[in-house]
Amino acid sequence: MTGHDVGVDLLIPDPALVLLVGASGAGKSTFARAHFRPTEIMSTDDLRAMLSDDANNQDASGEAFHVLALLLNGRLRRRLLTVVDATNLRPQSRRRSLAVARRYGIPAVAIAFDMSPEVYDAHNLRRPDRQVDPEVVSVQVSRMAAALEALPTEGYAARYVLHRPAAAGEFRIVRR
Ligand code: GTP
Ligand code: MG
Repeated sequence: MTGHDVGVDLLIPDPALVLLVGASGAGKSTFARAHFRPTEIMSTDDLRAMLSDDANNQDASGEAFHVLALLLNGRLRRRLLTVVDATNLRPQSRRRSLAVARRYGIPAVAIAFDMSPEVYDAHNLRRPDRQVDPEVVSVQVSRMAAALEALPTEGYAARYVLHRPAAAGEFRIVRR
């Protein structure tokens, strides 16, 4: 269930926990906004911003992940499809969210954004929301390789890997 990136339907169980996986600038938030309802999207950047007025403030990360866990618990207990819009590059970040889904018997789906380095740079240079340190991105890109190797072992009901920015209408999320 991987690898297609042209004119495809992405089949997603409903409910599901959907983990977006990818470096900063990969297009996760853009994709999430295009395909999911605002209330379905849990963004750790938004949570950091709510906690500290700064989406980049790493001092607020611990609390942001704590709030994320509360939100996931509440939504997945109610069997509501929920998207985690975070880099999700560290195995333990994914594991924490997956554990909540497992607690409620909700299947998990991974959508990985595996772009070429030029895409991250181009995206991050002209993004309107915030500046991203290129060195941080290069560390994230190296973590992405490990994440792509690990994802098949983590028990997702479906996995998708996107390799370039999506054209409008190129992907359809099909809930079933
Ligand atoms: P972080 O939140 O920093 O982890 O990044 P992200 O993966 O959420 O990236 P985001 O969706 O914010 O995209 C960054 C910038 O890239 C956006 O401001 C857009 O300008 C551009 N971008 C993202 N996705 C696409 C796409 O599919 N097509 C085009 N043309 N531009 C995109
Ligand atoms: Mg984002």
